Amino acid sequence: MKVPSLLPGHIAIIMDGNGRWAKKRNRPRTMGHQAGVKALRRTIKHCASLGIKTLTVFAFSSENWNRPDGEISRLMELFLRALDKEVDELHKNGICVRFIGDLTAFKPVIQTKMSEAQTLTAGNPHMVVNIAVNYGGRWDITQAGIRLANAVSEGSLSPDQVDEAQFAQYLALADSPDPDLFIRTGGEMRISNFLLWQSAYTEFYFTETLWPDFDEQTLEQAIAAYQSRERRFGRTGDQVKDTVNA
Ligand code: IPE
Ligand code: IPE
Ligand code: MG
Repeated sequence: MKVPSLLPGHIAIIMDGNGRWAKKRNRPRTMGHQAGVKALRRTIKHCASLGIKTLTVFAFSSENWNRPDGEISRLMELFLRALDKEVDELHKNGICVRFIGDLTAFKPVIQTKMSEAQTLTAGNPHMVVNIAVNYGGRWDITQAGIRLANAVSEGSLSPDQVDEAQFAQYLALADSPDPDLFIRTGGEMRISNFLLWQSAYTEFYFTETLWPDFDEQTLEQAIAAYQSRERRFGRTGDQVKDTVNA
């Protein structure tokens, strides 16, 4: 294991390409999703061993309900099975699991298991894994706006107290720092309604690797690319160098 300085504190991943991975093998798309669960297990393990503090993965978008009914129900079965099979192991490894998205759209049995997993792992110190399900960046900003408007109308918040930091308190990832590195597998170069607000200054890394093939080496390649970037946050390159040398 190499990967030296300046690890990203928070990595966000769009786990894309499961369907194409299966198609290349003449298998049903759901085989790709199954292989995708393994890739996620591998990725969580490796992030934890590298010392990454927060990992946020896009597992099901608010737009994925537009897929064929058969694929959605297989995804829900897989999701349920993963909740049964994986949570204890994550807990044993000190990983805190959270779900972000509009969870009310899921069957009660899935909602219960998600909430049990969150409660069981809540105090775990090693790493936070946020799993985005029925998540959309626009949904997130809208629900934050609604909750903030409610706080104003109840009188617990005054409009002149609202600034970016205050607004962000109502977003789904209020407890996590913004992602440093955003990885999308599967070759598409788009954000597909993932963390719109939170990725304002995130470094993007796109790879052709299909999600089920994503492994320790491809993760380390993404981290190495991140480490070669100069993050300027609006400043000049010289200013950044002066700060580093100070
Ligand atoms: C990502 O893989 C998984 C989900 C969106 C649930 P895809 O299923 O989108 O795979 P491709 O993009 O069709 O290959
Ligand atoms: C994004 O992938 C959502 C997830 C990986 C969960 P999609 O496959 O749904 O994205 P588009 O439709 O190609 O943009
Ligand atoms: Mg896709």
